[in-house]
Amino acid sequence: MKVHIIGGGNLGAAIALGMAKCATKNEITVTRRNTTSILYLEKLGVTVSSDNKHNIQEADIIILTIKPYQVDTVLAEILPFISNKIIASGVSGLSIEALQSKIGENHQAIRIMPNIAAQYAASATCISFNEKHAEQGQKVVTIFKDLGTAPVIDEKLMDAATVLAASGTAFALRYIRASMQAGIEIGFDWKTALAISAQTVKGAAEMVMEEQIHPEQLIDRVTTPQGCTITGLSEMESHGFSSSLIRGIKAAVKKIKGV
Ligand SMILES: NC(=O)c1ccc[n+]([C@@H]2O[C@H](COP(=O)([O-])OP(=O)(O)OC[C@H]3O[C@@H](n4cnc5c(N)ncnc54)[C@H](OP(=O)(O)O)[C@@H]3O)[C@@H](O)[C@H]2O)c1
Repeated sequence: MKVHIIGGGNLGAAIALGMAKCATKNEITVTRRNTTSILYLEKLGVTVSSDNKHNIQEADIIILTIKPYQVDTVLAEILPFISNKIIASGVSGLSIEALQSKIGENHQAIRIMPNIAAQYAASATCISFNEKHAEQGQKVVTIFKDLGTAPVIDEKLMDAATVLAASGTAFALRYIRASMQAGIEIGFDWKTALAISAQTVKGAAEMVMEEQIHPEQLIDRVTTPQGCTITGLSEMESHGFSSSLIRGIKAAVKKIKGV
């Protein structure tokens, strides 16, 4: 497929990079006004341009990875030049209904919520679309399945997905950082502590995804009675480990909903 990504920033460049590296050979164009920082993508076969309209008529899918306040400007620029396109938006807070009304019935609005791990084909990209656009929505799902997982969700869960899947990357990284800091306190240099912490998180995540079981069942395999693991867990929980994470996630959802 020909994929045109508008907004080659943190997210747009990560999607372009993930697509360029994956086995499915899509034709990718990525645009932003100042292209200097993403010219490296050209070496991977990605077309980089500062012109949002560059080859846009040929695109099968247009992906918007711009900030919410940039949407109207970008749409005003491209809409006169395109017809019958799938427009997949990763713009936080922009509903399918709002996007569809901006682009008109001639195009199909799909909502996506990827994260920057798309770069390593490890994003959890939540996707929503209206039933009448199911065929086009599935094309977007196909693209994002190559970049990790791509669950189709009810749009009313998109704010929750933004926090769990996109902000969640930062939350997970904070866990890794804290674990690394503790690693330094107990004797490792920071690089070794970071490598051990990151690999341990990756290993735990892979077990949960492979075995598709509740994390507590795996925790049970690690916690020897009267052992050090249960002692550590109990100490962490007594300081609000799980509850602070849950409270943080709920606060972030409230923030996004403006309540
Ligand atoms: N970062 C994430 O992890 C993440 C995850 C999920 C969703 N999102 C959402 O994705 C969107 C982008 O986030 P981001 O973090 O990637 O922001 P970002 O790094 O600021 O990227 C936005 C990009 O849009 C480009 N841009 C601005 N105006 C443009 C125009 N008229 N034409 C073409 N490109 C234009 C900017 O580059 P120039 O200034 O050079 O044009 C910039 O590179 C936001 O709506 C965000 O909520 C982000």
